[in-house]
Amino acid sequence: MSRHRAQQLASEFLARADAKGWFEALYSEAGNDYAAVPWADLAPNPNLVEWSITQGFKGAGKTALVVGCGYGDDAEFLAELGFEVVAFDVSPTAIAQCNQRFPNSPVSYQVADVLNPPASWCQGFDFVLESYTLQVLPPELRAVAISKISRLITSLGQLLVIARGREEADSPGEMPYPLTRKELAIFENLGLSNQSFEDYLDQENPPVRRFRALYTA
Ligand SMILES: C[S@@+](CC[C@H](N)C(=O)[O-])C[C@H]1O[C@@H](n2cnc3c(N)ncnc32)[C@H](O)[C@@H]1O
Repeated sequence: MSRHRAQQLASEFLARADAKGWFEALYSEAGNDYAAVPWADLAPNPNLVEWSITQGFKGAGKTALVVGCGYGDDAEFLAELGFEVVAFDVSPTAIAQCNQRFPNSPVSYQVADVLNPPASWCQGFDFVLESYTLQVLPPELRAVAISKISRLITSLGQLLVIARGREEADSPGEMPYPLTRKELAIFENLGLSNQSFEDYLDQENPPVRRFRALYTA
């Protein structure tokens, strides 16, 4: 039901060439009813948690940026790993909810647009997490977002991207639109180096095909 409402809002806003407005509309309509937001698990993304455990990932002395942070659970997870975290979302209501849910958090929650991030963030973070934001953007904006995200890591930084995946020949489907490997290859065309690329079915029921890719500068 919440997915249906999100798709309805997305179609309405996209029909008037507003690709961003529906996120704030959805969060503000949801208020404190988190279940009305289809991606709100109120827990860190298991695809991030599993990866972090496998890597023995730690953040002491390092900075991290979370793109499209939603209700903040991934940002809190990274802060627990020791990172100094900035997390942003285009929706002011989502950011207000992060501050309400985690009043004593060390994370700096900010309203910002991945399509136009603050200049001061350029090459500013040791670790950048992009999970599930590219897949809610229409294809023509994805390439712009990929280009902006690619500039956010330091010269020794890492970028982890987690997204739904599909073959080029598959239907693009409905929002959330799975990404193709070719779309993610734009990160490499922009100069990043791909360190790992996983294509797998996750633990959801029914399982979802995911791409999980790690890049360095
Ligand atoms: C599918 S949700 C994923 C949220 C979270 N990353 C997660 O994994 O649960 C996508 C998030 O990206 C945010 N978002 C969409 N467009 C954005 C933009 N242009 N700039 C920043 N955030 C954006 C939405 O408001 C939403 O919170």
